[in-house]
Amino acid sequence: MTTDAHDVDWDHLREAAGDAMERAYAPYSKYRVGAAALAEDGRLVVGCNVENAAYGVTLCAECGLVSQLHLTGGGKLSHFVCVNGDRDVIMPCGRCRQLLSENGRSDLQLLTPEGVRSIAEVLPQAFGPADLA
Ligand code: THU
Repeated sequence: MTTDAHDVDWDHLREAAGDAMERAYAPYSKYRVGAAALAEDGRLVVGCNVENAAYGVTLCAECGLVSQLHLTGGGKLSHFVCVNGDRDVIMPCGRCRQLLSENGRSDLQLLTPEGVRSIAEVLPQAFGPADLA
């Protein structure tokens, strides 16, 4: 799979997100989520949501994905998609847009229900590491 911004196999990435969703642990909300992304070097990373009886400490699918990014060599994400239990494309929640912003390239592309959008479009004026400098 190429990582060129205009020539990514979104169907393949979406399928990987759907397959990750099948591994979700969501007995409380029953809302399963899978996420898949490409790292700059072409590596595929995935994640699924993992809930907990202490509802507030639920791990979104993006948390696992970002953990896998770091575990497998780090770098930044270039392309991202997440899906629900019907394999429909959904938007990442607000907290996870922040995660994606910090772990993604500045031009990170997301497949959304309204088409491909940049991270700047889905998280305008993001707070980031530079604000802490
Ligand atoms: N969820 C995610 O995994 N990612 C998101 O971006 C949206 C929400 C999960 C968290 C929870 O397990 C379930 O979806 C319902 O909110």
